[in-house]
Amino acid sequence: MNPAVIFLLSTTCFSCSSALYVHNRAGSGRLKYLLEPPVYAEVSGRRGDNVTLPCILRSKPSHYKVKWTKLEPERVGPENVIMMSNSHASKAYGELGRRAALRKAHAMDASLWLGRLRLDDAGTYRCQLVNGIEDESVDITLSIEGVVFPYQSKAGRYKFTFHEAEAACSAQDGTLASYSQLFRAWTEGLDWCNAGWLLDGTVHYPILQPRPVCGGDLLPGIRSYGPKDKDRDRFDAFCFTSQTSGSVFYVSGAFSLEQAVQACRHRGAELALVGQLYAAWYFQKYDQCDGGWLRDGSVRFPISSPRERCGGIPEAGVRSFGFPDRTQHLYGAYCYR
Ligand SMILES: *[C@@H]1O[C@H](CO)[C@@H](O)[C@H](O)[C@H]1NC(C)=O
Repeated sequence: MNPAVIFLLSTTCFSCSSALYVHNRAGSGRLKYLLEPPVYAEVSGRRGDNVTLPCILRSKPSHYKVKWTKLEPERVGPENVIMMSNSHASKAYGELGRRAALRKAHAMDASLWLGRLRLDDAGTYRCQLVNGIEDESVDITLSIEGVVFPYQSKAGRYKFTFHEAEAACSAQDGTLASYSQLFRAWTEGLDWCNAGWLLDGTVHYPILQPRPVCGGDLLPGIRSYGPKDKDRDRFDAFCFTSQTSGSVFYVSGAFSLEQAVQACRHRGAELALVGQLYAAWYFQKYDQCDGGWLRDGSVRFPISSPRERCGGIPEAGVRSFGFPDRTQHLYGAYCYR
């Protein structure tokens, strides 16, 4: 077997199991005070949802505090504390703290409630019992349910620095995808032969059907270029988005981009962002066999039930015509309201 294949397989398996890794700072044995989470160490929700990250005491030491932090390995500096509490009172910290509260469903409940989830809430959270003697903690992973979409600059392939890729995703109602989000998207069918930035500053691309032009005859997997120079190197972006509060609809016509803007405006809406179209396709199974303008000047259409006369590609997906001449009167409009 080719050594590169072994490398790909092993990085793949490492990342899938690390998502469920449960940390126990107390070391070898069982925890004394906190309930270990075989219950559920992973919680998921869509953007806008409310979720609870479980942390249950088995017994209470006489004096203790519970501290909730978000683990951010990329970040240098002080840890990101969200909530501190003792048996009497609790105090929320930071930006996230304003959307957080302790659930307090019963006397032994130290679970954290998080309201109105945002895309950047995804990650690992630590519930730590601090009593000065034997501190204990459990880690809970919060994943946001959503969809990964590749995004390329209007100027062509491989034009984004890392920071430009970040801005491009954000302008399309998304964030840069994490490795685990890309991995999941790959298991759900994402096959893309252009390399893109991920949130951690690495560059990857997902391949389901190996072919010579896309990394050769390796097995299916996530191809990795590893970490790249965030200021100098240029690639496409893998963006991630989740459920939206509004919805996307199609207005048929033969519009220029400017006319498409007006067509949406007349209906009290705006041209949709790429992320909003993907979210509609992913969560609502939106299917429309007509190219339509989006706000970035690209033309796309969402297909949930693949059929011969709609692009002829056997997989579901959002198809793109790229960024056509904006004065061409050929396409309808995808509006968002
Ligand atoms: C989330 O919680 C808020 C505040 O309690 C509530 O108003 C809202 O309806 C909840 N949202 C969902 C999706 O359950």
